[in-house]
Amino acid sequence: MRRSDVDPGRADPHRADPHRADPDGAAPPGADPHPAPDAPGGACAPPVPVIELRGVARSFPGDPPVQALRHADLVVRPGEYVSVVGPSGSGKSTLLHLLGLLDRPTSGEYLLDGLATRELTERDRSALRGGRIGFVFQSFHLLPHRTVLDNVLLATLYSGVPRTERRDRAHAALERVGMSHRLDFLPPVLSGGERQRVAVARAVIASPHVLLADEPTGNLDSVTSGGVLDLFDELHAQGLTLVVITHDATVSARAPRCVRITDGVLQEV
Ligand SMILES: Nc1ncnc2c1ncn2[C@@H]1O[C@H](COP(=O)(O)OP(=O)(O)OP(=O)(O)O)[C@@H](O)[C@H]1O
Ligand SMILES: [Mg+2]
Repeated sequence: MRRSDVDPGRADPHRADPHRADPDGAAPPGADPHPAPDAPGGACAPPVPVIELRGVARSFPGDPPVQALRHADLVVRPGEYVSVVGPSGSGKSTLLHLLGLLDRPTSGEYLLDGLATRELTERDRSALRGGRIGFVFQSFHLLPHRTVLDNVLLATLYSGVPRTERRDRAHAALERVGMSHRLDFLPPVLSGGERQRVAVARAVIASPHVLLADEPTGNLDSVTSGGVLDLFDELHAQGLTLVVITHDATVSARAPRCVRITDGVLQEV
């Protein structure tokens, strides 16, 4: 993979107006009229964080209620690679669901690319999610009866991009992860590592600003998991922002920055 393969959009995640929620450029209702003080403007201003949590908490009803995430503050800047570690039940997936706009905080504010998300409609959140966030899960979530190429292609089905261009992008994404020799294979005949590579291709095809991975190597042996981590290193080197949740110390050690969650409390390691 060459550096020249980098999508210029990914190398500069803030090429677009950070208040854009969809490709048509309409600013979603609820767009933060008061961006963070370090928003672009000054020549020396640091880049707008891709992820910023301000006192975010998530509790679930129960007797007593579950405080899955407690008043978390977190800033992830463009191009950072962060691992999130913590024991089972500590709140890691809860955090990932919030970061991925799959869930809403009980309190606090989450800014994605400087855009406050609390007041956004589901439609706007869905547009943001589709355009800016890629997901990788432990169990791959590939469609078993569709080819490798189709699995990646389907991720852009509702993007409005013409099919021929979508095909080109799917080919490029699969080449990026070293899977272009398996285009017509069905997922069940692939190895675990190959399946996860296809899942990563599917996650990056839309040029997300951030890749969120929840135990991406949880179903893989150590050699195969090393291959997926090499791939993450390459994506990171190309400018992609990564947040990787893991139980595995070997996996977390690959990320230059690590945060830990214990009983819903998030701390820098
Ligand atoms: N929808 C829900 N309703 C009630 N409680 C929930 C819900 N989702 C998560 N929880 C609780 O919140 C806590 C954190 O769960 P979470 O899934 O974030 O843990 P985790 O760190 O990802 O664990 P694991 O490593 O086992 O995947 C747990 O106590 C869990 O039981
Ligand atoms: Mg989990």
